[in-house]
Amino acid sequence: MKRILIVGLPTLAALLLILTIGPATGQVKKGKTRPLTTHQLMSGLVRPNCAALGKGVKKAPTDDKGWHALATNAALLNEASYVLMADGRCPDGVWAGAAKTLREGSAAALKSIDQQDAAGTATAFKSMTQACAACHKAHRPKKKK
Ligand code: HEC
Repeated sequence: MKRILIVGLPTLAALLLILTIGPATGQVKKGKTRPLTTHQLMSGLVRPNCAALGKGVKKAPTDDKGWHALATNAALLNEASYVLMADGRCPDGVWAGAAKTLREGSAAALKSIDQQDAAGTATAFKSMTQACAACHKAHRPKKKK
């Protein structure tokens, strides 16, 4: 009986550790079933659209075509906030809160962009980018070579 406990308890502890920590880290880097990694989502969708939107905030578009391009950027960032919450990727409340900030900020930016309101777009952009910092502080690997 003692033997079973000595062997069994650490095994149980290890199993619980894998169950709680293992899948959580897996989900941060990738969803459960779909192939897109968080790294690809960030470098392929989030970063380029955030950079383009930031450019438009610094120097407002001068024609409809420019505003339409910004609307595309904001709408794609809005969509990214849903992808971040899908497929079991979200590990905790910090992540969920940041995704919500990204969603609401990009939606507000889109509204201002539709009205070609440069000041409103800048304000919304600023609040939206708080999502990047909040989530990265908690979940982005500290140092990648
Ligand atoms: C809900 C969480 C979350 C939000 C919100 C978020 N990110 Fe990320 N981001 C991550 C995680 C996690 C990584 C690390 C991915 C990895 O390397 O596995 C990352 C990595 C990155 C990277 C590095 C990608 C690379 O090439 O290694 C960039 C750039 C980036 N994010 C940009 C942004 C920007 C810009 C925003 C805001 C518009 C943003 N992220 C919002 C979670 C988030």
